[in-house]
Amino acid sequence: PGIVAVVPAAGVGKRMQANIPKQYLTIGDKTILEHTVNCLLQHADIVAVIIAISDGDEYFAETGLQDDSRVTVVSGGKERADSVLSGLIAAGDAKWVMVHDAARPCLQHGDLDALIDTAITSEHGAILAAPVRDTMKRADSHGGINETVCREQLWHALTPQMFPTEMLRDALKSALENSLLVTDEASAIELAGGKPKLVQGSASNIKVTQPDDLNLAAYYLSTR
Ligand code: CTP
Ligand code: MG
Repeated sequence: PGIVAVVPAAGVGKRMQANIPKQYLTIGDKTILEHTVNCLLQHADIVAVIIAISDGDEYFAETGLQDDSRVTVVSGGKERADSVLSGLIAAGDAKWVMVHDAARPCLQHGDLDALIDTAITSEHGAILAAPVRDTMKRADSHGGINETVCREQLWHALTPQMFPTEMLRDALKSALENSLLVTDEASAIELAGGKPKLVQGSASNIKVTQPDDLNLAAYYLSTR
């Protein structure tokens, strides 16, 4: 299927505490954003990549990504969901859309294949996810343990997340209009009553969030 990928890349990277937005930090010979977008562009089913960047972004032009005819740039927004929505609007009438964080450069092709296989046969799309490994506790407000939460049904939501374009655009628009909290695409679909599928992905598909994630991402990328 012809899939359009939307990459939210308009964050400031506060938790990374670097002097530039984290998606423009370099690992090896490329920025994190380039690692991420290249992986998407190398997949035969992905026909276009729409990248949402901040207004006034001075770093994107340096990457060379805009020289690829399959890459389009749109203006991101205040929250991640706003950036994703502006990408979805630019996706027009593409049947399928896949949303993937700029800050996840270690995505593997096998995971993309598995996600696509499930999403195209699912009624409400699918997301990559990893089973929780640790014992989980729910805290009370004083730092005590209220209870142990059964790990069996808990997953970490990863990206990419793939849906019919119109379904996701409608769900995200309505969630934002109603000021509902949407921290990933699946949550917008869930709020609209849908049930996306979980596809087990690799735990190495980390979101580079804090300084120590850089070494880990560099390690995973070096094993390719
Ligand atoms: N993002 C975006 N637009 C925003 C906020 C985030 O496009 N208004 C993107 C980020 O660039 C990142 C992805 O969404 O690729 C995941 O967000 P996160 O890891 O939280 O990145 P930041 O918001 O940049 O980091 P922080 O929360 O530490 O500031
Ligand atoms: Mg953020």
